[in-house]
Order: sequence, then C-alpha cells, then structure tokens
Amino acid sequence: MPDKNHNPDQRYGRLIGVSLGPGDPQLITRRGWAALQSGARWLYPIKKAEERSYALDIAVRGGLAVPPDAEALVFPMTRNAEILAKAWSRAAARTVELLAAGRDLVFLVEGDASTFATFGHLARVVRELAPDVEVETIPGVSSFAAAAARINTTLAEEDDTFAVIPAAYGVALIDHLLDEFDTLILLKVKPLLDEVLDLLERRGLLATSCFIEKVGSPDERVVSDILSLKGEKVNYLSLMLVKNPKRVRGELRRGCRKRAELPA
Ligand SMILES: C[S@@+](CC[C@H](N)C(=O)[O-])C[C@H]1O[C@@H](n2cnc3c(N)ncnc32)[C@H](O)[C@@H]1O
Repeated sequence: MPDKNHNPDQRYGRLIGVSLGPGDPQLITRRGWAALQSGARWLYPIKKAEERSYALDIAVRGGLAVPPDAEALVFPMTRNAEILAKAWSRAAARTVELLAAGRDLVFLVEGDASTFATFGHLARVVRELAPDVEVETIPGVSSFAAAAARINTTLAEEDDTFAVIPAAYGVALIDHLLDEFDTLILLKVKPLLDEVLDLLERRGLLATSCFIEKVGSPDERVVSDILSLKGEKVNYLSLMLVKNPKRVRGELRRGCRKRAELPA
C-alpha cells in the first residue's frame, strides 16, 4: 500500500552530525570545520531553555560566529520517561520541519557523534519520521581519547584490552571488569564517584587512576590525587581513567604477529 504521507516531490536537506571534540576547538576536524561553514543551518543541544550549550561554546571558542538563525534543541537531563519522550519527539519533529525546507542542518555534538551522543538517537527518530532524510556523521575526538592524551598515557598498547562504560552500572560490575581489562574508562562517573573511589582504594589502584573534567575546555581539571575528590560534587562532564597493571592476563589465542614474534 502506498504511504499516503509520502510525498515524492519533497526534497529534504541533509542532517549532518558534526563532532566537535571534547572542548578544545583545535580538535575539530577539518571536515567538521568545513561543515560548520558550509551555509548549513546550525542546531545545537541544550539541557534547559536559556542554558548555554557546551557544544556551541566549542565552535565559538574556535572563532566562529553563531549564525543568527542557529537554533537550540532542548534535551533535558532527566530519567522521567514521559518528559524525555516529549522532549525527544519535539526535537525530532522540529528537525524534520527544518529539513523539509530543503536546507542542510548541522547538529553540533560535543566529543564524538557516535559515542554516547544525542545525535545517534535524534538521527534515528528523524529517519522514522522522514525515511528519505539523508544522514551524515562526521566523526571526531572522544572525551576519553583526549583525556588519555592530556595526561600522556595510552588507552591500550600491544595486546592490552580497554573498555569504556558508563559508571552507572555500579561498582560490582566495575570491580569485575577490572579483572578483564587493562584500562577502564568510566564515563558519567559523577553520581558514583565516592563508591568508585572506595573500590579503587580497596583494589590498590588509586595511583594508576586519574579524574579528568571538561577536558580541553577553559575549565579543564585533571586530578591525579583522586581521593581528594571524596565528597565533592563534580561536573557531569568528567570521567575516570583507571589502569590496572596488576591484571592477570589470559593466553593470546591468535594475534596479528607471527608466532615466533610473540613473547615466550
Ligand atoms: C553523553 S556522554 C558524551 C560522550 C561524548 N560524545 C564523547 O565522545 O566523549 C557524556 C559523558 O562523556 C564524558 N565527557 C564528555 N565530554 C567530556 C569532557 N570534555 N571531559 C571529560 N569527560 C567528558 C563524561 O563522562 C560525560 O558524563
């Protein structure tokens, strides 16, 4: 049956997710930079009306003027499913409405657009509403890649394993994963910070862990004496990079190196 809402003459603009990196505008890729200056209309996320947008601020710090028709979309930080659903459908409907005018839209994303970012969900809902919309994702530097670089450490070397998880799964899971991975990146660590600190102290991993907040921004904070954070209300844009040098590794079954090159 033909879809009676489908209009074959409708030409939509493209929806482009532009990753801006985690705070330092120097980390915007050339492709992202070009998209911002392409004449596409800007959309940027905010948590509540009249609030500043962290993503927009990165572009502004990079020296770009905010186009007068740039528009904010509100994505509230709440667990209330009803409020969330309403906000999401409002944001998606508005995005489709703007795309229907035929002009490309760039959606500004903090960090990398494919990593725990609003853009993935927005693009999905927009495609549900308007399947003909073309979506492009411009990749970028994630918060944890920038954090590792900031403290001159590696996320993984040689046969190391590393995992990136939202800390919200709780300390029992983190405790377990510390046995499985050489490096753990704990995102969204704010609500569990004290519990995580207790765990890292218990496991003797305080010295090989680092807390990084708003990496690359003017408000960046790097804390290596992580116990000093106990009881503090840290910013949502913060993560913990944990290395477990004591991890007992399993045997490698098959690597990329020839057998003779593998350590005995
Ligand atoms: C919704 S996720 C966004 C991840 C982002 N798309 C990325 O590529 O890193 C938000 C979480 O990412 C981490 N994060 C994002 N930006 C950060 C920054 N500038 N500094 C430190 N952590 C950051 C924090 O753990 C925060 O709670």
